[in-house]
Amino acid sequence: MASAQSYDTIGATYTVTRRTEPRIAARVWAALGDAQTVVNVGAGTGSYEPPGRDVTAVEPSALMRAQRPAGTAPCVAAVAESLPFEDQSFDAAMAFATVHHWQDPIAGLREMQRVARRVVVFTCETTDQSWRRRFWLTRDYLPEVAASRVGLATELASAIGARMEPVLIPWDCADGFFEAYWRRPEAYLDDDVRRGISVWAKVGPDAEQRAVRSLRDDLASGRWGERNRDLLDLDAAALGLRLLVT
Ligand SMILES: C[S@@+](CC[C@H](N)C(=O)[O-])C[C@H]1O[C@@H](n2cnc3c(N)ncnc32)[C@H](O)[C@@H]1O
Repeated sequence: MASAQSYDTIGATYTVTRRTEPRIAARVWAALGDAQTVVNVGAGTGSYEPPGRDVTAVEPSALMRAQRPAGTAPCVAAVAESLPFEDQSFDAAMAFATVHHWQDPIAGLREMQRVARRVVVFTCETTDQSWRRRFWLTRDYLPEVAASRVGLATELASAIGARMEPVLIPWDCADGFFEAYWRRPEAYLDDDVRRGISVWAKVGPDAEQRAVRSLRDDLASGRWGERNRDLLDLDAAALGLRLLVT
């Protein structure tokens, strides 16, 4: 449970910047179709749990479970790779921004297929074209992240026979995940923003300080603006986020 343990360390301030982005939630909820019973795996604090359906959450980190607001779905302490449910006991299983933390993502997705008739997963494609070299934060400031994960969404989709739909990130995305501030670079200078993004803990304090210093310098000198002028007119960006739907 390496990642679950890490959320017991890094998850303390999750809700400061992490919350439901309604335009992306609408895509997830549409993909759930007419499912009435839904299990949300790696549920965290409950963002993206659909209203008006019978939701069961699964979350291994006690710290994350403790931050679930009153009135959210009942939450079971378990990991994706071993779901404590009978075969086909839900209409749908969903997982949002969590599979890259799982010890064995394919085993977790197969468990979701075992317990539910439909699977909906929000994750990222990490090929050269779609993400690693296109997002300025990884390309210009965090090369160690660009080198670390390759091809996640495609590999997972083919393992469970899912179709893949691209998801654009609105410029003012309400959920502060890694790519969310692509048009608001100053946000990454903010400690609270970085504490809500696990990548920064993963690269460690030396790389974090180097990247922040370098970004701050480039913003002050105008270099960031010169390099990324083409982004400033966009309302939404394609940075490799994907919905996998079976
Ligand atoms: C970035 S958070 C996403 C939480 C929530 N889905 C959201 O969108 O806000 C990732 C979550 O995955 C959980 N997690 C880590 N390893 C897991 C595993 N093997 N099975 C299920 N969840 C896991 C973490 O504890 C954490 O709560």
